[in-house]
Amino acid sequence: MGFFLAREMAAQWAVLGLLAACLASAAKESVLNVCMDAKHHKIQPGPEGALHGQCAPWKDNACCTAETSTGAHQAQSYLYSFNWAHCGVMPDKCKRHFIQDTCLYECSPNLGPWIHQADTSWRRERILNVPLCKEDCEQWWEDCKDAVTCKENWHKGWNWTSGTNRCPRGTTCQSFKYVFPRPADLCEKIWSNSYKYTLEHRGSGRCIQMWFDPAHGNPNVAVAKYYAQNGRDASPAPWAVLLLLPPALLSLL
Ligand SMILES: *[C@@H]1O[C@H](CO)[C@@H](O)[C@H](O)[C@H]1NC(C)=O
Repeated sequence: MGFFLAREMAAQWAVLGLLAACLASAAKESVLNVCMDAKHHKIQPGPEGALHGQCAPWKDNACCTAETSTGAHQAQSYLYSFNWAHCGVMPDKCKRHFIQDTCLYECSPNLGPWIHQADTSWRRERILNVPLCKEDCEQWWEDCKDAVTCKENWHKGWNWTSGTNRCPRGTTCQSFKYVFPRPADLCEKIWSNSYKYTLEHRGSGRCIQMWFDPAHGNPNVAVAKYYAQNGRDASPAPWAVLLLLPPALLSLL
């Protein structure tokens, strides 16, 4: 009698546990292959044959339209009217990193694990602490260290009265290398922690690449999957197995 009761309870436990594991796994899958709810993103990712210039690597599966990809290459484009040249012309070798940053932001369907609610009028969701590959951040800093800006955080505090962002009163134009002493300062502070500087290398599968060769597929697919399963708020997957195994075996008796 006691044995049968135990067996019954074990079976129920196992079923409940499996259900919980399935739900947890479904929740993790739901951050893969998604577009954030922001100003220009598509509802769902999909093929975009005509993506422009530096955004072309995402053409097999993208959250941006061709029109958005063109805007990503233009200073003061219709996208955000944002002016990279607020302290004089930005050198091309630096500007290409900002274009690539915009392409990643607008086009990538692999930023799901880092999407958070945003409390702003112009977008409902934002990215936070996307682990950027060491080399991508360092090259960005290297190519921009002699470019000039008046602000550390480019998300807020501009003077928009003219319709585009201008340096607010009380700020001065200085080289990036003074405003952002280290690569991490640039990558993390410029977009209020959208990116996190990491020591992970390109190709490691542990960091997001702003730049990649689409001939070898999009390396960020595997990175998103890894962090969805093993991220900081990762669920108790190994626990579930340990808890489930004994009752599951018992219920087979
Ligand atoms: C913003 O710029 C306008 C000129 O376009 C100027 O009159 C105003 O004082 C500026 N405001 C601040 C806070 O910098």
